[in-house]
Amino acid sequence: MTAAASFWLGTSWKMTKTLGEAGAYADDLRSAVEAGSVPPELRLFVLPAATSLATVRDRLDGSGVALGSQNAHPGPDGAVTGEVSMSMVRDAGASLVEIGHAERRTLLGETDNMVADKVAAAVSAGLTPLVCVGETTAERARGETPDVLARQVRAALSQLGRTRPTELLVAYEPHWAIGSEGRPATPAEVSEGLGVLRRALDEDLAGTPTSVLYGGSVHAGNAADLVTGLPVDGLFVGRAAWTAPGLLDLAHRSADALRRRTLHRPKPPDLVSAIVRKDPR
Ligand code: 13P
Repeated sequence: MTAAASFWLGTSWKMTKTLGEAGAYADDLRSAVEAGSVPPELRLFVLPAATSLATVRDRLDGSGVALGSQNAHPGPDGAVTGEVSMSMVRDAGASLVEIGHAERRTLLGETDNMVADKVAAAVSAGLTPLVCVGETTAERARGETPDVLARQVRAALSQLGRTRPTELLVAYEPHWAIGSEGRPATPAEVSEGLGVLRRALDEDLAGTPTSVLYGGSVHAGNAADLVTGLPVDGLFVGRAAWTAPGLLDLAHRSADALRRRTLHRPKPPDLVSAIVRKDPR
């Protein structure tokens, strides 16, 4: 990995794509990687539905694009009908696992406690958690955003004990900014929340490489402003990256914006490892 390859750009396909559509997307992405048209500054990731993880793994193997699951159950393999375990998604090709997305919290009742169990199970299984946090419209209106974010991120880490992840990603996705009903956030609206998350991670996971991503209605028209205007280590995208050209367009826009960025330069990975090793460099 080059020192500059440290800005995450990824997409969750959510509940979309047949096997054929998933394979075609992966083939297009692979062709772009092989043609050298993915900016080297970016760490791309794709989170297919569980049904197409293995297909996408086969097509993207060796491409450098990270693959993840949108969810997994925290328990060991066994009698839990309808669920897939951390080890099963890892076996199917995931290196990342998304935990606590807003849609799972609101539509499926995922709680802070469930998120905590999943984060601990993911780390035990050798997966990198991508923990999603974010306030609802009502919480924001009541001025609770900083408290909600601090509570959610601290809860997510609460079952780790002394275990430390090799790496951890947190995506700040305000509920009101997500999906077709969502309103894109401006940098001014989310920079305070990003600061809360960064401080909580620096305090609670000092020495662990952590990245804070922004997600919620990211699209071609606002990606550059989000990259230049926010202290983030990546963008997490839904609808605008549900086609390979959509993801690649955002990759170019993000890379151009990164080159213009003065606000926040992600730490190069070699410096991160030096901090982890506690090298007196
Ligand atoms: P949209 O980009 O479609 O708003 O979705 C964002 C998201 O939920 C990513 O996890």
